[in-house]
Amino acid sequence: MTGRPVVVAVDGTAASGKGTLAKRLAQTFGFAHLDSGSLYRLTALAVLEAKGDPTRAVDAVKGARTIDLSRAGDPAIRSDIVGRASSHVAAIPEVRQALFAFQRAFLKHPPGGSDGAVMDGRDIGTVICPDAPAKLFVDARPELRARRRWLELKSLSIDRELADVLEELNARDAADRSRAVSPLKRAPDADLLDTSDLDIDAALAAALAFVTPKVEAALKAKPRG
Ligand code: CDP
Repeated sequence: MTGRPVVVAVDGTAASGKGTLAKRLAQTFGFAHLDSGSLYRLTALAVLEAKGDPTRAVDAVKGARTIDLSRAGDPAIRSDIVGRASSHVAAIPEVRQALFAFQRAFLKHPPGGSDGAVMDGRDIGTVICPDAPAKLFVDARPELRARRRWLELKSLSIDRELADVLEELNARDAADRSRAVSPLKRAPDADLLDTSDLDIDAALAAALAFVTPKVEAALKAKPRG
């Protein structure tokens, strides 16, 4: 790998499809991928397992410092209890600070020496990497996002009422949008992608139409070694 890795920032609302899209974009370009939400979810899990309080800074920071990355695929972090707790820990500045270095290091040196990295979350294009050459903001109508999340939870054998999932997503989005630090918002230079009426393949095609020219230009601008 030569030059600075090319970063694709994918932000958006809860269960908007940004994670799946980010993964597929990374596969398409041969870039590394990091779901930054899993860092907040792992932090929340660490706090809950230590019987701490996710709204208390001391407990949450301790959680952020003791996250176990090997559990990123653990279905336990997908539960709504962990989801709600992750939104609480994510509003604490010291937690964001503790996770900032990890995210920056990932973007600077993507695993496997890839030419670039795709990172999805809430503040990737605004705070973590404001100079990313390609940025997407992914959204969809709340009822559709709730349905997708409900199905995803079902596939993990987590049975929830659809109405509860919708309420939980709306509450979390409201909290993420209104917090003082790194709130959920679209970067001024991010392309808006509404996935309401798109299946995964159509969403990927729409994302690629925005991102490909920007990634290609950024790759071309990188010094060759
Ligand atoms: O999968 P889903 O879209 O529901 O959420 P997630 O991406 O796993 O993120 C869980 C929570 O972590 C969010 O509700 C945010 O409060 C927080 N988060 C954040 O603050 N900043 C990020 N870059 C990513 C997630």
